[in-house]
Amino acid sequence: MLFKQQALLRQKLFVLGSLAIGSLLYLVARVGSLDRLQPLCPIDGRFGPRGQDEIQLRALQFKRGLLHEFRKGNATKEQIRLHNLVQQLPKAIIIGVRKGGTRALLEMLNLHPAVVKASQEIHFFDNDENYAKGIEWYRKKMPFSYPHQITIEKSPAYFITEEVPERIYKMNSSVKLLIIVREPTTRAISDYTQVLEGKERKNKTYYKFEKLAIDPNTCEVNTKYKAVRTSIYTKHLERWLKYFPVEQFHIVDGDRLITEPLPELQLVEKFLNLPPRISQYNLYFNATRGFYCLRFNIVFNKCLAGSKGRIHPEVDTSVITKLRKFFHPFNQKFYQITGRTFNWP
Ligand code: A3P
Repeated sequence: MLFKQQALLRQKLFVLGSLAIGSLLYLVARVGSLDRLQPLCPIDGRFGPRGQDEIQLRALQFKRGLLHEFRKGNATKEQIRLHNLVQQLPKAIIIGVRKGGTRALLEMLNLHPAVVKASQEIHFFDNDENYAKGIEWYRKKMPFSYPHQITIEKSPAYFITEEVPERIYKMNSSVKLLIIVREPTTRAISDYTQVLEGKERKNKTYYKFEKLAIDPNTCEVNTKYKAVRTSIYTKHLERWLKYFPVEQFHIVDGDRLITEPLPELQLVEKFLNLPPRISQYNLYFNATRGFYCLRFNIVFNKCLAGSKGRIHPEVDTSVITKLRKFFHPFNQKFYQITGRTFNWP
């Protein structure tokens, strides 16, 4: 009898213990997944199954504190109406520079609860065919967001395309412009590496970087080579300055974004007049990737795709020296105009 009572007691204690541990685990997960600093909006669990009127809700992907259905990027028209969701034109655009770290910057800014990213490069202002479709077409390409949030898109081709500054100015003359730059020679090699990978994928042969970057007739830097031209940042910026005052640009140090992202992101938060919300908690170094990755909450984290962070081919040191010497005066001018100095050689 006594033995039976003891067994019953043990069973009850086991059930109670499991319940306590379960509740504790739930609470830890819940607190971690909430936006600890600023609740975004009162989202409840009323959403039904996917309907025929379902539309993409990319805006809310991976946002802290949002329901799983939303994070998956799906919502019905009813949900959009219920939460006053809108498709807003971007208040800030990452206009370049290609291979500067534009994707990392966009993804990292998207950690901020008041920022919503357009996932794809839209190429509205640099592509004549898209531009001809009109501004409503562009707006419809934007993700859904709450009215208090700001939408950001990135299309690095904007920085180097002749017509773009005027077109963006016509859309919104006070839009904020972000430019992420890296040491110009490294950026040019990164640019080359991307093209090279594309060629290799198609089983095509390609020239060595040295052959493209140096004109074989003059032995001087080949300014006709696009990867070189793109790295002459000041030349492109000067075209933009015909439309926008320098205060409307913010320069991000792409080399520092790799090694020490938080201070760079904090400068951007300030520039965009956003309250500081991105913290060290949101960024963790992944030794396997060799880069910082993103932590949205206790459950959701992600690293950038493998196409970011390619191994660069080895380049002849004399070519590197020549390129650095070539870029030097342009860099000085760039520092002078932007008021941001880098330790580029
Ligand atoms: P490499 O591939 O030369 O290393 P973009 O997004 O503009 O194409 O830029 C790609 C570059 O972003 C990569 O260049 C990589 O170095 C850089 N980058 C910066 N932060 C990164 C991160 N957290 N994860 C992966 N790549 C990052």
